[in-house]
Amino acid sequence: MATIREPLVRIPASLVSVADYERLAPEFIEPATLAYIAGGSGNEQSLRANIEDVARLRIRNRLLVDSAHGHTRLSLLAHSLAHPVLLAPIGHQGLVHRDGEVAVAQGAAATDTALVTSTQATRRLEDIAAATDGPKWFQLYFQPRKEHTLALVRRAEAAGYTALVVTLDTPVQPLSRRAQRAGFRIPSDCLPASLAEFSEQTRPPSALAGVFDGLMAAAPGWQDLDWLMGQTRLPVIVKGVLDVEDAAKCQRRGVSGLVLSNHGGRALDGVPSAISVLPEIRARLGKTYPLLIDGGIRSGYDVFKALACGANAVLVGRPQIYALAVAGALGVAHMLKLLRDELEVCMALSGTPTLADIGALSLAPDLQLTNLGYH
Ligand SMILES: Cc1cc2nc3c(=O)[nH]c(=O)nc-3n(C[C@H](O)[C@H](O)[C@H](O)COP(=O)(O)O)c2cc1C
Repeated sequence: MATIREPLVRIPASLVSVADYERLAPEFIEPATLAYIAGGSGNEQSLRANIEDVARLRIRNRLLVDSAHGHTRLSLLAHSLAHPVLLAPIGHQGLVHRDGEVAVAQGAAATDTALVTSTQATRRLEDIAAATDGPKWFQLYFQPRKEHTLALVRRAEAAGYTALVVTLDTPVQPLSRRAQRAGFRIPSDCLPASLAEFSEQTRPPSALAGVFDGLMAAAPGWQDLDWLMGQTRLPVIVKGVLDVEDAAKCQRRGVSGLVLSNHGGRALDGVPSAISVLPEIRARLGKTYPLLIDGGIRSGYDVFKALACGANAVLVGRPQIYALAVAGALGVAHMLKLLRDELEVCMALSGTPTLADIGALSLAPDLQLTNLGYH
């Protein structure tokens, strides 16, 4: 079996895109772990749709637009962000790097990137927060006991997280078939550190307990979301929305923003990509409601397309873990810089010097291309 390489300490000239990190990742990640990270649920239809739907969109080039004062800044939920790319919550990052989420936070700090820390992180939420003075949000999974959910919220508030991102699309999440075939299991030293103080019995039941009497019996409902919003002053963002009625319901209930997401194709297989439902949800929720998307964002051009479809910002999932494995904090920072540089080039060439200039008219109507079968 090939040996797994130590993370690089310098970025080679050959690493110039997110795809390069993905291509190199198998040299730095154990095969079973890679199967766990890369895989999607079921037949992986939603996983493929994420990449394909972004790739199908075409950008309009516009000439002779004065872009001298262009920039990528935006204001989102009272934050002023340097650019619209956030790091998605990814659990168990100790699987690929000894410093795990702390190294990711250092990469975020170096590039003015907002970070979303997972409940399932292998490092404590406080240690991750301490590694970046940039904007950070905490991704919350409801715990079977309310007092434990509340304990996480209080810790996140105290550690300086400024929003809660509640993920609701995976009350049940079977391992992908790829991960099952590879015999993947989360090793005991990569368990969620922030949950360590809760005893075994009060953690979410395992998938072996059965779906309806096990996991779904402990799954949250709308009343739990209302309860949570009553417990904290932090803005609450819901992650995992794809349905326009769910989106409208969240907005009516006072949710501060949404992450449209199919969990990187790891939740319900067969659902659409976030980018394909975004225009309809933007139209329904209005121009100013904060909407983020993730899934299949692999370049600055993809970021641009998401913004053109109506997103305020995007999150990147797998690219961060590949970059972490390949070159630690340095890799994460470099990967984020590549995305931002590509976005800036794309904005300059499309005649949209600020994010506010990007809109539906920034995309070429792709009808003709679709009819010709150019997918
Ligand atoms: C290995 C892995 C672990 C993840 N862990 C979490 C998690 O703990 N919480 C969560 O809300 N989403 C989690 N996600 C989903 C990501 O936040 C994000 O929605 C998804 O990765 C975006 O798609 P992309 O990987 O194509 O960028 C995870 C995704 C992967 C690949």
